[in-house]
Amino acid sequence: ALERTLSIIKPDAVAKDVIGQIYSRFENAGLKIIAARMAHLSREQAEQFYSVHKERPFFKALVDFMVSGPIMIQVLEGDNAIAKNRDLMGATDPQKADKGTIRADFADNIDANAVHGSDGPDTARAEIGFFFPGINLHSR
Ligand code: CMP
Repeated sequence: ALERTLSIIKPDAVAKDVIGQIYSRFENAGLKIIAARMAHLSREQAEQFYSVHKERPFFKALVDFMVSGPIMIQVLEGDNAIAKNRDLMGATDPQKADKGTIRADFADNIDANAVHGSDGPDTARAEIGFFFPGINLHSR
């Protein structure tokens, strides 16, 4: 089915200047970028975005990292976009990510893991609304 998913290129990958290389992977896999913006999140925004993790031991490290520099946020659209993006990203822990995935190639550790992608249709809807509120996104 045609889906949309929220993707974030995290501060580590933005600092490495691999936005273009990561965008090429999306495009080569048939995921179209239908919205994009750069942002430097406040602590409040990062805490709100990751609020499902607020009781987890890694929450503070995650928020500290996500506010450490600018991020690139995009909506990807395509057939089976949510799972397709997760396949392109590889496992959360780059040590466990398959060869040739974004995290295997660009990530340093489980906190600085290069990218985020929505994990299901409900999260995708919520995460897209969080970063692109009231914006009419166009399929293409
Ligand atoms: P992300 O997909 O952005 O969602 C939550 C993030 O928390 C995850 O990527 C990791 O960067 C980070 N994180 C750190 N430690 C863990 C952990 N043990 N399990 C899951 N996520 C973790």
